[in-house]
Amino acid sequence: MIDLRSDTLTQPSAAMREAIANAAVGDEQKREDPTVNELERRGAEFLGQEESVFLPTATMANQIALQILGRPGDALLVERHAHIMLSELGGPAAHSGLLTIGLPGTDGRFSAEQVVAEIRDRTSVHVAPTRIVTIEDTHNSAGGRAWPLDEVDAILATCRDHDLAAHLDGARLVNAAVAVGVEPARIGRGFDTVTLCFSKGLGCPLGALIAGSAELMSRARRGKHFFGGAMRQAGIVAAAALYALDHNVDRIADDHARARRLAEALVDAGVQVDLEQVETNFVQIDVGSDRAGAIERMKEHDVLVSTTVHPTVVRAVTHLDITDDDIETAGEAIPAALTRTAALRAR
Ligand SMILES: Cc1ncc(COP(=O)(O)O)c(C=O)c1O
Repeated sequence: MIDLRSDTLTQPSAAMREAIANAAVGDEQKREDPTVNELERRGAEFLGQEESVFLPTATMANQIALQILGRPGDALLVERHAHIMLSELGGPAAHSGLLTIGLPGTDGRFSAEQVVAEIRDRTSVHVAPTRIVTIEDTHNSAGGRAWPLDEVDAILATCRDHDLAAHLDGARLVNAAVAVGVEPARIGRGFDTVTLCFSKGLGCPLGALIAGSAELMSRARRGKHFFGGAMRQAGIVAAAALYALDHNVDRIADDHARARRLAEALVDAGVQVDLEQVETNFVQIDVGSDRAGAIERMKEHDVLVSTTVHPTVVRAVTHLDITDDDIETAGEAIPAALTRTAALRAR
């Protein structure tokens, strides 16, 4: 099977497992795990922030960020198909008492003007004050789209001008940084808090970071306990993340190149793919109304893809376990499967 459902499906490599096996560990709750401490030091630098805190998942990082940036009754602005909006179980309301306002986006992005239009009168006794703006980069459900730097900067300037906190859901920040040709710190440094996930393109079995100022990170450490994310000998996992920072960052560009090659092969074979949208490691394929049938036919051709929020669109995601040969095979198997789907429907 060529598994293109998600970049979360990677298996830890032999070398990563060796790093895990050799990790020096201690009780991270007491700040005595040298591997976690080293990861938090390097992670902060990597993300352009003063400090970072190691967490089990990116969902927890997002939820802690929102809790420390807002107060119950505050409003949060987020693109309406963002992970925080669609896939975190209403966490901002449940954990932090936030009113989430979903902004309509284009390619997962919204404008500084849209933010300004949602700023409410903080002196009013009736309205929830807008307090936090979150962007997702790359944006998952938009198809791994990256924010242009000038648009990120415009959102951040607006946040500064209007005393709004800014959170970056950078679960796939490395993909975003590679796509726009900068270091992750260039994107991360302007935000109050940043999430980075290690279990996606970076190829770790689990792990994430939240990063921000020393003051915010001391509150994030409390949040880590509050959410049940404070671990013990977590260096076992942090070792994988350190390995990933050393070995799996530069190779993200290969995933992007493979996604592009797959997209081009599909377009050449007449499959509905918008090449303009292929900026990182996602290929969005419009398979028409019988999406379930198309996914099933692809499976019969040994290719796994997954659904998206768009009813006729599936996605193929490249990652560290996908080779050039896989791309070549998938580039032939997907059109063959879709031709069979169309033929079956015509019967
Ligand atoms: C943009 C984005 N943010 C956050 C997450 C949450 O990551 P995790 O599953 O590690 O909690 C995901 C997972 O797919 C994601 O795509």
